[in-house]
Amino acid sequence: MNDCLPEASPYWQQLETLIRQLVAGYGYSEIRMPVVEKTPLFARSIGQVTDIVEKEMYTFTDRNEESLSLRPEGTASCVRAGIEHGLLYNQEQRLWYMGPMFRHERPQKGRYRQFHQMGAETFGLAGPDVDAELILMTARLWRQLEIGDEVELQLNSLGSPETRVAYRQALVDYFMPHADQLDEDSRRRLDTNPLRILDSKNPDLDALIEGAPRLADYLDDESREHFDGLCTLLDAAGIHYRVNPRLVRGLDYYNRTVFEWVTESLGAQGTICAGGRYDGLVEQLGGKATPACGFAMGLERIVALLEARSDQEFAAADVYVIGVGDTGAAALNLAEQLRDRCPGIRVRLNCGGGNFKKQFKRADKSGARVAVILAASELERDEVSIKYLREARDQVTVPGRTIYDLINQYFLESGN
Ligand code: HAM
Repeated sequence: MNDCLPEASPYWQQLETLIRQLVAGYGYSEIRMPVVEKTPLFARSIGQVTDIVEKEMYTFTDRNEESLSLRPEGTASCVRAGIEHGLLYNQEQRLWYMGPMFRHERPQKGRYRQFHQMGAETFGLAGPDVDAELILMTARLWRQLEIGDEVELQLNSLGSPETRVAYRQALVDYFMPHADQLDEDSRRRLDTNPLRILDSKNPDLDALIEGAPRLADYLDDESREHFDGLCTLLDAAGIHYRVNPRLVRGLDYYNRTVFEWVTESLGAQGTICAGGRYDGLVEQLGGKATPACGFAMGLERIVALLEARSDQEFAAADVYVIGVGDTGAAALNLAEQLRDRCPGIRVRLNCGGGNFKKQFKRADKSGARVAVILAASELERDEVSIKYLREARDQVTVPGRTIYDLINQYFLESGN
């Protein structure tokens, strides 16, 4: 679990701001769910024999002897909240959320035990148009972040629950005679969740998996039509994708469309966003049958891409206020006035005194572009000085009342 340190937080803020604008642009409404839920919610939705539920949840018994878990993802909570508050009954919803999730995985670059997701979930919309909308929304974000050329969209269809049952049997029939060639994980999955064998990252199994029956050959007509419809819409929108027949996802609630945005820039943990359709989940959790589709993106991984690409230095302030000599309350007051009259400009006040040189050092370190200097000797004349910290330009002394316009003008012209 990570601390987010001051040098990283500007990237987070930038990303979070863009995400808020993005979802607003698509007419999605925010929902905030608690970070703790009753454990059975996750077992019933994500699946009893998935990695997440079997070994990754932070589960504890509370004072009422009830088993609770820190949420490992947002979809289950979102559906629970939607049912509980009557948001899903006979209506459409387009929702989004952002916040921490918890999985007790083996930590490595891009994989953490507390991580952050932004997710979007749609309800009551059955056609491939909303699948396409969700994908276009994410593609727009990559463009805005200028990481579009580093990510690839992978797409697959898992078909209907019946498709999966038939396909599951076909996989068992195929892998069983080769069980001795499988690794321990995959052998276990042969009994519990054979589709996940396809997901294996073990290169020794590549050839065997390559020869396995293809899900596409088991798809029911309606699912195939849905998938073709989605591909047509993506083609028309100019979105490139690769159909990956091995893409099955690690959570059980999916049917039909599944997708992942993958990058090679991050090493092993290259999936920055993943999602798909889960038409059966609302009913499974006690609501009325409601089609649903969504995605979640891992913010740590996206921030890592942004950090790797940028040598931006983020300043904590634009203006640094220095007081020389005994200025009493005047410097504090000047800083307040600047905040009143120069909106949007970040003002940091020198606190703790110090000689001129020391205060300048601090001004420089703050990243401010301008120092406003208030000298005790100039107080009576109501004069202040401006020193430009990032350019060769003479220091000027001006009447105190003109400082606000000068500062506003300076940052307007220099495009702050
Ligand atoms: P997921 O594939 O488990 O799907 O997670 C979505 C994304 O969260 C991943 O692609 C990755 O970027 C990020 N992520 C997952 N685990 C970690 C981790 N340990 N450390 C850092 N990042 C991580 C879901 O969670 C589904 N709820 C997505 C969804 C929404 N499907 C439909 N609606």
